[in-house]
Amino acid sequence: MKEELTKIFPEFDLIKDEELREKSINVWIEAIEKGGWKVSDLERIPFTLLIPDCPVNIIDHTRSVTKVAIEAAKQLVQFNGGAYELDMDMIVSGGLLHDVGKIVEYADCDDGIKKSPMGKLLRHPFSGAGLAMRHDLPDKVVHMIAVHAKEGDSGYRCPEAVIVHHADFMNFEPIKMG
Ligand SMILES: [Fe+2]
Repeated sequence: MKEELTKIFPEFDLIKDEELREKSINVWIEAIEKGGWKVSDLERIPFTLLIPDCPVNIIDHTRSVTKVAIEAAKQLVQFNGGAYELDMDMIVSGGLLHDVGKIVEYADCDDGIKKSPMGKLLRHPFSGAGLAMRHDLPDKVVHMIAVHAKEGDSGYRCPEAVIVHHADFMNFEPIKMG
């Protein structure tokens, strides 16, 4: 499954730290297995259930969020006056994993893709953070997953988490407004 995933998500190769890259891929593998999906199913999983007939799947959304976050990070470090540093491996891993919890939040039902029983109890920031902790991802990546959505609005976000959060909403709100 690893080869299939790196083909679908070529951005895994942008993670320089080999251990982080392997762990990040393994989180996706576990989510797919736990959710009872095949890699080929990812193409028909919408990135959100909040937009009816959503035209963007979880693959393209995840790739776009990751790529927007990478490009934003490259610009920000040039113009932030040295106020903070950004770890690009964290940006790439956090981007690729921010929505991995949706793979277990959603289920393939007879009448379409719906919330799974687990998804009704645990939105993807929680399940995604849990999956990442099971694979010993760095605390920062777990944090980025945990706070990327509305659940993180009232608490602390590290600079990498701020970037992925905004990259995510840039890839959500204009599509939602359609
Ligand atoms: Fe997202």
